[in-house]
Amino acid sequence: MNRSASWLSILAALLIAAAAGSPQNKSDSKWVAPADAAAKKNPLIGTSGAVAAGKKLFLRHCAECHGEDGAGIQDAADLRVLQVQNQSDGSLFWKMTNGNVKAGMPPFARLSDTERWQIVCFVRTLKGDEHPEK
Ligand code: HEC
Repeated sequence: MNRSASWLSILAALLIAAAAGSPQNKSDSKWVAPADAAAKKNPLIGTSGAVAAGKKLFLRHCAECHGEDGAGIQDAADLRVLQVQNQSDGSLFWKMTNGNVKAGMPPFARLSDTERWQIVCFVRTLKGDEHPEK
């Protein structure tokens, strides 16, 4: 191999490594709620106190990994980004209920349905840079 060709292959290897290790929201793209779960409506929308109750629960159960502002610590997802906020309430509820243990997200089926919907209400209020209109 001549010298420039070997430099090219080193460069290519570096680019591939950089892309694979990109520090973006490392969400598992195969972790998708089934359609019937994703279609579930949040029964607490507009209910007074739901967001405040959800915030308390979030700080107790979620903030250690997702941060108090939902930005995510280490591998835990940034919950403010459109990739998450564009998912239905039912989808977030399902992910929270079942978790994705191999990726580090524990299941929260031990919380009541009401508590999990309250957390969904709170997660909707997390504002990131991708939500300048709010
Ligand atoms: C022990 C750390 C940990 C705790 C505690 C935790 N999470 Fe997670 N969570 C993660 C990780 C890691 C991921 C990324 C999983 C993946 O990429 O598949 C994740 C992913 C998620 C996602 C999916 C985001 C997406 O991209 O679709 C949601 C929603 C979520 N968490 C909500 C919560 C809520 C709400 C709580 C509290 C009830 C919570 N998590 C508690 C670590 C945690």
